[in-house]
Amino acid sequence: MQSVQQRIQELTDKLNYYNDLYYKKHQSEISDYEFDQLLKELEQLEAQYPAYKLPHSPTQRVGSDLDNDFPTVAHQYPMLSLTNTYTAEEIQDFETRIQKLLAENDVNEPVEYFCELKFDGVSISLIYENGYLVQAITRGDGTQGDDVTANVKTIQSLPLKLIANDLPARFEVRGEIFMPVHIFEELNKQLEEEGKERYANPRNTASGSIKLKKSAEVAKRRLDCYVYALLGENLNINTHSEAIHLLEKWNFQVSPTYRLCKNLEEVWQYIHFWETARHNLPVETDGVVIKVNSLKQQTILGATAKSPRWAIAYKYKAEVAQTILQGITYQVGRTGAVTPVAELQPVLLAGTIIKRASLHNANEIERLGVRLGDVVLVEKGGEIIPKITGVVLEKRSAESQPIQYITHCPECNTPLIRKEGEAQHYCPNEKTCPPQVKGKIEHFIQRKALNIEHLGGETIEKLYDLNLVRNVADLYDLTADKLALLPKFKAKSIQNVLQGIENSKKVPFEQVLFGLGIRYVGATTAQKLAKHFQNIDNLQQASLESLLQVEEVGERIAQSIINYFQDEDNKALLQRLKAAGLQFALAEQPFSLKNQTLSGKTFVISGTFETMSREELQNTIEKHGGKVLSSVSAKLHYLIAGKEAGPSKLEKAQRLGVRIINEQAFLEMLKG
Ligand code: IVH
Repeated sequence: MQSVQQRIQELTDKLNYYNDLYYKKHQSEISDYEFDQLLKELEQLEAQYPAYKLPHSPTQRVGSDLDNDFPTVAHQYPMLSLTNTYTAEEIQDFETRIQKLLAENDVNEPVEYFCELKFDGVSISLIYENGYLVQAITRGDGTQGDDVTANVKTIQSLPLKLIANDLPARFEVRGEIFMPVHIFEELNKQLEEEGKERYANPRNTASGSIKLKKSAEVAKRRLDCYVYALLGENLNINTHSEAIHLLEKWNFQVSPTYRLCKNLEEVWQYIHFWETARHNLPVETDGVVIKVNSLKQQTILGATAKSPRWAIAYKYKAEVAQTILQGITYQVGRTGAVTPVAELQPVLLAGTIIKRASLHNANEIERLGVRLGDVVLVEKGGEIIPKITGVVLEKRSAESQPIQYITHCPECNTPLIRKEGEAQHYCPNEKTCPPQVKGKIEHFIQRKALNIEHLGGETIEKLYDLNLVRNVADLYDLTADKLALLPKFKAKSIQNVLQGIENSKKVPFEQVLFGLGIRYVGATTAQKLAKHFQNIDNLQQASLESLLQVEEVGERIAQSIINYFQDEDNKALLQRLKAAGLQFALAEQPFSLKNQTLSGKTFVISGTFETMSREELQNTIEKHGGKVLSSVSAKLHYLIAGKEAGPSKLEKAQRLGVRIINEQAFLEMLKG
């Protein structure tokens, strides 16, 4: 029989393989569900047998909720910066300087340049020893930086373990951590839905994320990393391009945008090509880095205290266009949030014709002080939709008036509301405002929720228009005859949609809960609620106090959940969904994982722990048949006290004679 240690090893390797395939080659050999099951099994085994957890475990990608305080570490090689240039003359000067210095050193071979894009993120130094990522250090002051290893390990595309037969025992890789533009957009959409403030731009979000205190939070930011330098002793390479090819071979993610240029003319071609093409990349870029390719030449050229003499950055000018604000339209989203959109006189910007720009909310309009008919500045920043960055006041007409924000929903004419402290206006008519109704259905069918394949926004639109689907429960009443009413819907499409709907009945409870679209309940909160309450009935009956016990649930979310379940229409909807056979309770643990060592025992957890996070500890207790309570009473069996356990809990447990145990004693208990 396979030992636990072997199983952990096997799961680690398998999951790393699937992760790699998914994040690097965008392929999947197993379903998300199967993947999650394997990951869950590994998490549980690691919680139970922390000694067997491997340093390259895929569970590190999920991060831990323990607090990071970053130790400072000295860089083996200083992390320098690059001299910025903006003109052709400056680049010519760079070449002249290089040629002079090389000639002085009797080196007369031609200079080749390796061009890369300048990624706008946070630079990172990655130390690999014996094939393992052992340390990730921020730039800091260039001489020493913060050790952010646990946070960096959450970056999926970064290899934690390398497999190659030509690896040096120790080497350093440098790269840029960034937030992909589409992730930035997605996170902002999510924040808006949860009524929170948007992030400013991808770069700042990435640099803030890498310094977060809990790596589990960093994992949610879905950062990415491109590497662009290899440092170390005896690397047996002569050029930077060889270094880049080695990194590619070792499975690092290198942006494929580089080019080896024979002369400055080719460098210019590169600069011109990427000036517009860079806007279609997944990462923000602000220029080009031009590096002397020969390492011998690099060594001769050396560096000043601040920057190498063998490399230079050419920065693109921010692309700004002037155009006229012709009007403002207002979009109503799934949650009723109203977003103003600037309608612009079409203008060419960074290679595309721009007709619209986002204005986010009423505060933004006020901040810009923009008026209809104004000449405005439009810039392409980190967002897919360009933004208005200013108004040309000199060109304002004398008759222009400040914008009056709408007071009624443009879709259903209901008076808008704006809650205290929130930037967004809302249409409160969630039951019949068309975009809200359709948006709720689209939210329900998405991958993270009920994952109904073969059904998309367009079909939902048609089903809504034909009055076939007006809420999510109606989806489960769809028949082949009803679907046949849709234009261009043939037997195959009908069968696909029906099959997709059927499959959604197996989707786990936490996803169903997220799919219901309770305001402020995002995917993570839904997971936490599902785990805490186990099934919908418990959740439905939960009091405000018990909801507040759940991690990440505050007053606003708790109240929103209560409101949701008090609503008669929602109650009827849930009845219909239950009758349709959706999952409204957490699935039972597979039998093999069951273990009843702690059966009937109750625990309260306080403080933080060495071998596992609080959540892992809670999982472990529950998996062994124990129960986790939130407050200490005379009936409680054990208080597990970790570092910085709450003094009032400790005092109460002592007073009531409840046993107080530490982590070690708890781990002993598990052995039975
Ligand atoms: S090479 C001596 N290559 O730019 C510096 N840097 O201003 C060698 N950066 O701190 C760095 N893209 O964070 C290099 N393709 C690239 C880069 C790049 C972005 C950043 C990096 C560095 C900063 C220097």
